[in-house]
This record gives sequence, structure tokens and C-alpha cells, in this order.
Amino acid sequence: MNQQFSFDYACFASASELDPADKALLEKARAITAAAYAPYSNFKVGAAAVLDDGRIVTATNQENASYPVGICAERTLLSAVSAMHANKRILTLAISYASEGKNDRPISPCGLCRQSLAEYEQRSQQPIRLLLGGQTGAVYIIPDCVSLLPLGFSGEDLNR
Ligand code: THU
Repeated sequence: MNQQFSFDYACFASASELDPADKALLEKARAITAAAYAPYSNFKVGAAAVLDDGRIVTATNQENASYPVGICAERTLLSAVSAMHANKRILTLAISYASEGKNDRPISPCGLCRQSLAEYEQRSQQPIRLLLGGQTGAVYIIPDCVSLLPLGFSGEDLNR
């Protein structure tokens, strides 16, 4: 028997179509790209999350001369929230970037970040809405992160 996996996500032509809170969060992700430490790739990623107490946390990618040591903006953000705002839920996470090329379409979290985001969702029992957009252009809203990791491995698979 074949099985299928699919999920719905919303596509907007530009940030101006978003509701004001989402637009403001994406603007924060766009702006914080300027603080990224990305001297090797020059691909600056910004993340901005709203927590369940209304607080907004931002983060950027942190590269290293030993390239694999670098950390994506998403995982920098998860670590910051987990360390500084323990037990807080992340409601929405906006991700943007600024590169030397075109910055006019969304990027989506890498595989490592999908695994980390799925863990945070599971741990906090809270779907994390993703708001993905470049500096300009289309914006995607994805209702949760686990949708980006079909058939993923999780804590539930351990010690069964
Ligand atoms: N990067 C992120 O921070 N988030 C993503 O979703 C994709 C990639 C970073 C990693 C590296 O510092 C640079 O972008 C180029 O891959």
C-alpha cells in the first residue's frame, strides 16, 4: 500500500500582504541579517521569533574558519531561547537572508535545522509557525516545522 505525505502552506506575493504582526516579525528577521557573522559565505541569515510571552528573540548565523563549526541562524536562535527563556514556547519564527545575489525569494531551513526545530516543537508541545521570506518577494507561511521533516527520527523512536 502506498502512502502519501503532503502539507498546506500559504504563499503571499509580498510582505505587504501579511498581517501587521507577521510583517513586523519578518522585518526584524530581515534587519538582523546585518548582524550575521558570515565572513566566509557572505550569506547572512536572520531569524526572529515571537515567544508565548510576547517577547521577540532574534539570532543570526555564526560561521567559523573551521567551516563545519558554523551554526545556522535557526539553531542559534533555538539555543538562545532554550538557554535564556527556558520553558517558553516559540509561536512563530521568521527567517530571512541577505546575500550578494538576489534576495527576492524565501529560503527554507536546512536539514539539521529541521531536525532541531522538530525537537523544539516536540519538547514544547507547540507547533512553530514558519514565516519565510527574502528581503523582497514572496513569503511563505508554513504551519509547523515537523511538516518539513517527513518520516523524521525523534525521541519517540528511542528505547521502544
Ligand atoms: N544558513 C542558515 O543560517 N540558515 C539556513 O536556513 C540556511 C543556511 C547559513 C549557514 C551558513 O552560515 C550560510 O547560511 C551559508 O550556508
